[in-house]
Amino acid sequence: MKSELNYSLKQHNTFGIDAKCAQFVEYSSEAEAKEVAELLRTSRVPYIIIGGGSNLLLTRDYEGIVVHSTCKGIERQGSRLICGSGEVFDDVVAYSITQGLYGAENLSLIPGDVGASAVQNIGAYGAEAKDLIHSIRAIEIATGNVCVIENAECEYGYRQSRFKHDWKNQYLIVSVEYEFSETFEPRLDYGNIRSELEKSGISNPTAHELRDTIIRIREAKLPDPKVLGNAGSFFMNPIVARSKYNELAGQYEGMPHYDIDAENVKIPAGWMIDQCGWKGKSLGRAGVHDKQALVLVNRGGATGQEIVKLCETIQKDVKQKFGIDIYPEVNVI
Ligand code: EPU
Repeated sequence: MKSELNYSLKQHNTFGIDAKCAQFVEYSSEAEAKEVAELLRTSRVPYIIIGGGSNLLLTRDYEGIVVHSTCKGIERQGSRLICGSGEVFDDVVAYSITQGLYGAENLSLIPGDVGASAVQNIGAYGAEAKDLIHSIRAIEIATGNVCVIENAECEYGYRQSRFKHDWKNQYLIVSVEYEFSETFEPRLDYGNIRSELEKSGISNPTAHELRDTIIRIREAKLPDPKVLGNAGSFFMNPIVARSKYNELAGQYEGMPHYDIDAENVKIPAGWMIDQCGWKGKSLGRAGVHDKQALVLVNRGGATGQEIVKLCETIQKDVKQKFGIDIYPEVNVI
């Protein structure tokens, strides 16, 4: 177990915010995760568990312990890959394709670690991590016991799982077992995947071609955190009653939306923020990305407080214009 005191988290959050924590600990194996669990049990200091920091907004120094996994390894067993929680999720996606294991192509280039994929149920282009997750191996902090948690127990939903609610801070994830398909069944009907493929003259893509296309689409819209600090989508897309959607659709012709079920419709928060005129604008050193209004960016040296201020101002404007509450997808500390 690695442990550092008074540690800067700047390299551990993609917003690039320079906040410190009182103690930073890393586990690289199941045995070390047990040691960390014991430390957390006995020290009685508050703690948080972070992944790649791509969904994290630090608004202050943290007077507790920040826990991070560096558990590595990707091991194939039949149609499954057992992946260390500290592996980069996109490395798993890339590897799966080289192995002739399919289903993760649409999740290409999502930032973050394997452990976080299971907590956050990351998703893009009509696919979600939950479609691949078979089970999760973790240390229960309260007991130090190894647990194998099945997908069905996690109650996955849109960017949600029990790890974010009743299981929050209860487990140190060591590995995630993903189950793939051995036949390639591309999902091309979401957003502009098909039209992007057509630009390259492709109608029946290979898995590699689909991955490359998804990467191109994402790179065109989402800023590289190494260049411009950001945490991907800052807000979740709100799910509203169909009556509310009908009311707005009457006012805004061609309003984008995704049907959830008979009663509920998802409305893209990025579109609403754009309609409020925020795209490309800034408030202090915090800004709204000029190619995708759902992404808040650090224009250089912004504090977490400045980003929160921008977030709250946008929430107020969206509420005023559309009568809809939007909430951050990122974890605000
Ligand atoms: N739109 C605008 N203006 C904008 C942004 C979006 O008009 O500035 C419109 C688009 O034209 C489109 C609709 O809003 O009609 C939806 O936009 P987009 O397809 O870009 O997707 P999104 O709903 O903004 C979600 C995920 C992304 C994921 C994409 C593609 C959430 C919170 N975000 O974004 O995930 O990559 O769909 O599947 O669900 C992330 O979570 O970090 C993330 C990037």
